[in-house]
Amino acid sequence: MGATFDTTSPRNGRPNRRDFIAQALGLGALLSRPDRLLAQEPLPTRPIPGTGETLPVIGFGSSKPVLESPTEGTEPIANVLRMLLEHGGRVIDTSPRTEAIDRDFGRVLQDPEVRDRLFLAAKININGEQAGIDQWRQTQRLFGRRTVDLLQVESLRDVDLHWPNVRAWKDSGEARYIGVTVSSNFQHAPMETFMRENSPDFVHVNYSPMENGAEDRLLPLARDMGMGVLINRPFTNGTYFGMVAGKELPAWAAEFDCETWAQFSLKYVLANPAVTCVLTETTNPEHMEENIQAGFGRLPDDATRARMRELIRSF
Ligand SMILES: NC(=O)c1ccc[n+]([C@@H]2O[C@H](COP(=O)([O-])OP(=O)(O)OC[C@H]3O[C@@H](n4cnc5c(N)ncnc54)[C@H](OP(=O)(O)O)[C@@H]3O)[C@@H](O)[C@H]2O)c1
Repeated sequence: MGATFDTTSPRNGRPNRRDFIAQALGLGALLSRPDRLLAQEPLPTRPIPGTGETLPVIGFGSSKPVLESPTEGTEPIANVLRMLLEHGGRVIDTSPRTEAIDRDFGRVLQDPEVRDRLFLAAKININGEQAGIDQWRQTQRLFGRRTVDLLQVESLRDVDLHWPNVRAWKDSGEARYIGVTVSSNFQHAPMETFMRENSPDFVHVNYSPMENGAEDRLLPLARDMGMGVLINRPFTNGTYFGMVAGKELPAWAAEFDCETWAQFSLKYVLANPAVTCVLTETTNPEHMEENIQAGFGRLPDDATRARMRELIRSF
């Protein structure tokens, strides 16, 4: 990566916070809202249940910029990551791609300014026990680390075959936490069964005002069982922005410090106390910054959340 992550004083001959943000966003973007950026506190955090560790409430789902990296290069990934780190974010979710893509992505993740500041989540997403072992070994090699913070079986794919190995990798110190993911409502029932039978450290589920099924059973169960919770699809992979395009944000959104439609969905998600961190996928550092702002200020109460769902359903 070209730009440094150091945000210390220019007296050291290094860029200060303002220079740094200007590099990431372009000067015009900085000058349009300098006070807000410069006065910013680090992202609020929430505890990982049953541990002394906390995670910042907004994370980076890397799928889109990673999949686009063969044509767009890795600079968009690095730029979004810089923005996240600049605001005290740490959580980055990854999924195995081709060897060539993950080799380039691995270089970004191994940048000395980045590697020890991340909470890195990886996945196994392949059928077959041996294929899962091989895939994990490849991820370790390409990401240049023996240990990830969270190793997940994606979409419960062949989870019965992978889970004993995932548990063993936790025991051997190769994964600090272990978990499973789903991203559609039809997987919620098998997810619930898996949670009850296997008590993963983390679950990772789809949840938003458009897809709020997780709040009926999965999120209360995760809370009761003391699991960390990552959220995917806060913008239903972008279709949300098509739905709200041209619609005016209601005036009552100001009651929970919400300024944009992106924050409307993210604040709905964060208002659920079971949620540890919501992942937002983006190729654009300005979008990351907008999403980070959802981590600050007030959150909607239950009555307001019902109103938010009704509004979204009326579109
Ligand atoms: N089974 C699984 O384990 C699973 C499945 C799906 C997703 N996930 C995880 O969840 C992450 C999130 O993915 P998702 O599918 O849920 O995507 P998402 O975050 O719901 O939506 C991403 C889309 O929203 C756009 N966007 C983001 N912030 C924006 C903003 N402030 N304003 C306007 N547009 C914005 C992005 O486009 P721009 O690039 O233009 O910003 C992108 O097209 C993934 O990266 C992955 O880590 C996991």
